[in-house]
Amino acid sequence: MRFILLGPPGAGKGTQAAVIKDKYSIAHVSTGDILRENVKKGTSLGQEAKSFMDSGKLVPDQLIIAMVRDRLKDMDCAKGFLLDGFPRTVSQAEALDHLISNLGVNLDAVILLDVPDDVVIERLSGRRICRRCGTIFHVNFNPSADGSLCDRCGGEIYQRDDDREEVIRNRLKVYYEQTSPLIEYYEKKSLLKKVDASESSDTVLTMIESLVSR
Ligand code: AP5
Repeated sequence: MRFILLGPPGAGKGTQAAVIKDKYSIAHVSTGDILRENVKKGTSLGQEAKSFMDSGKLVPDQLIIAMVRDRLKDMDCAKGFLLDGFPRTVSQAEALDHLISNLGVNLDAVILLDVPDDVVIERLSGRRICRRCGTIFHVNFNPSADGSLCDRCGGEIYQRDDDREEVIRNRLKVYYEQTSPLIEYYEKKSLLKKVDASESSDTVLTMIESLVSR
């Protein structure tokens, strides 16, 4: 199984990916998570990426493409992978076509998680994440029992720097300008499948599973 979860910030890509990767034993490749890990470790990639991420802009294509090229060579990707947050520009999608053909594999589907902007803002402004294990919570829709500690590992729960409303609005603008052209790109390749991601997480998962396991 090899597919892309496409959609605006806050559509639920990370939430769905966390369940799917365990259920189907495939690799979850999240460019946002890899970048945040690099920022945390203070690598040169992290230092270069940080200012773009903090303002909600896209990190330059050449950095992202090199990062994904390396990640797809990892052993855990051999059984299949789910791409979350990549590609995000037409150049990245074209680079992915080359990477995938060099690996001798095909993409099964591109799942578009479709949600209106007001839902995005409500979801992202209430999102909280565990600093230790990365579990995603929401203050209203999926709160942790304690409120400040993770239910799964007891780690500290925090709010991402780019989940402030003005940055969320910029991320949405960037999505419409630079990422939404991928809808047509993948429609032309007959890979695009659309899901109403404003439904509950369980319903969205069922819809995704019905599309990728056909
Ligand atoms: P990235 O980390 O990829 O952020 P994003 O695409 O903006 O997506 P999010 O992680 O914000 O949202 P999500 O769809 O995963 O939603 P989630 O499941 O958490 O990228 C961050 C930055 O890195 C970018 O701005 C850019 O600078 C850089 N970057 C990354 N990739 C790049 C690339 N390829 N090229 C260039 N730059 C790149 O859900 C959100 C909230 O909603 C959670 O609280 C969750 O609990 C809740 N929720 C989820 N689903 C539901 C539901 N069905 N019902 C109710 N609540 C729900």
